[in-house]
Amino acid sequence: MKAREAAQMAPRFRILSPKRNKLLQTGWEGFFPYYAGFPEVFARELLQSAELPNGAVILDPWNGSGTTTYAASGLGLSSIGIDLNPVMIIVARARLLPPTEADHLRPLAATILSHAYSTPPILDPNEALLGWFKPSTAAFIRGIEQNIRRSLVGNMTKSPDGIHLDKISGTAATLYVALFAACRKLVAPFRSSNPTWLRVPKETDARVAATKAKVAQYFAANVRDMSGALAATLDADLRIANPPRAGECEISLSDTASMKLRKGSVDFVLTSPPYCTRIDYTAATRIELAVLGPLLTISARALGKQMIGSTQVPSTLIEVDESWGKTCARFLRALRKHPSKASGGYYYRTHLDYFHKMSRSIERMSHALKPGGHAVLVIQDSYYKDIHNDLPEIISEIGVTHGLSLKQRKNFHLRSMSDINPGRRSYERPSGATEAVLCFVK
Ligand SMILES: C[S@@+](CC[C@H](N)C(=O)[O-])C[C@H]1O[C@@H](n2cnc3c(N)ncnc32)[C@H](O)[C@@H]1O
Repeated sequence: MKAREAAQMAPRFRILSPKRNKLLQTGWEGFFPYYAGFPEVFARELLQSAELPNGAVILDPWNGSGTTTYAASGLGLSSIGIDLNPVMIIVARARLLPPTEADHLRPLAATILSHAYSTPPILDPNEALLGWFKPSTAAFIRGIEQNIRRSLVGNMTKSPDGIHLDKISGTAATLYVALFAACRKLVAPFRSSNPTWLRVPKETDARVAATKAKVAQYFAANVRDMSGALAATLDADLRIANPPRAGECEISLSDTASMKLRKGSVDFVLTSPPYCTRIDYTAATRIELAVLGPLLTISARALGKQMIGSTQVPSTLIEVDESWGKTCARFLRALRKHPSKASGGYYYRTHLDYFHKMSRSIERMSHALKPGGHAVLVIQDSYYKDIHNDLPEIISEIGVTHGLSLKQRKNFHLRSMSDINPGRRSYERPSGATEAVLCFVK
């Protein structure tokens, strides 16, 4: 059968709202409530309705907290999840821990805590945790982290060029997530109403002082609850006569703008790319990156620069590329001419960087997709001052440039993150945003 015929015969997908919903954050989703993620039920229903053949491979090039890889694995499908942020690699791997491991988590955490009490580490003066915590608190947190690393980050993860986070075991990843969540709770005073923002304290600000007992209590409570949530999924599986075997999953720490996936090796893509709303994806995970400090080979700043949607000005000059399509060209012209401060300078250049990286990534994603394969992308529009950044339309046009055609589109209205920004009120524009689910076929 030709690719075109196969595409025409493909089922229409069941598309639920991709909007994050607190009520849907049950079990695992509640431990790392990633503001940028879509709900598991959205991913599961969509993948199920795609009626994929046995052996099909699912790709999420912007896998974030691993919703796609988790849903695919639960349906017995093979999957590949890519993300550039090491924190998200850990979270996505933790979500894949088999429920049969639930019982081991609490004794392991107890051993790790007892070692952390008995052998406190000597802190490096450049210790990133000192940015938020008093030295004694930072030292105890580092002690827990060091013990997770020493006892659970095995040889598989070590290579001459450092530690391969993408090979970390599900158990180690789960204990890291429990420590992330404990730290997030402790630094709550530095959070603002914007969920993506964790303030870096000023030199003069008081750092968080928490007793060892309090840190240990938060960590242990998270492990207990995570183990409970995991055990509950095992109970649910036992109630089904033939639960599917978990699908193979590869979680990979890489940059989509340069990822090297084999041509035609992927059957289905389900993803939500970084938005073009000046969300700094690394700033949102600052405290987790501080916890992971000894495992990182790149500074948080350098990582932020590499991200799609970076707020840092690119070091090379980027020109508008015609292949980004007419909607993008129109938006960039309006942005460059906008009278407000820095529109034609800083903002223009960071937007060029966004579209440049996005186009390269979609090209690579399309290269990896089989002829007749589908790619479903969740994309949110936004406003720059009063100029509409119709990202769903722009991505549709970039997709066409790289050999994809749009088959189905469904829009959802949401309250947008930028509504929180008080500055928005001085410009005429509708409130909220449109989240579009775009279904392409190759
Ligand atoms: C909208 S979020 C994806 C959320 C995901 N669907 C979930 O359910 O958690 C976009 C992700 O893209 C990642 N990202 C940004 N730039 C990237 C790049 N150049 N390569 C790979 N991942 C990148 C960010 O770290 C972020 O986790």
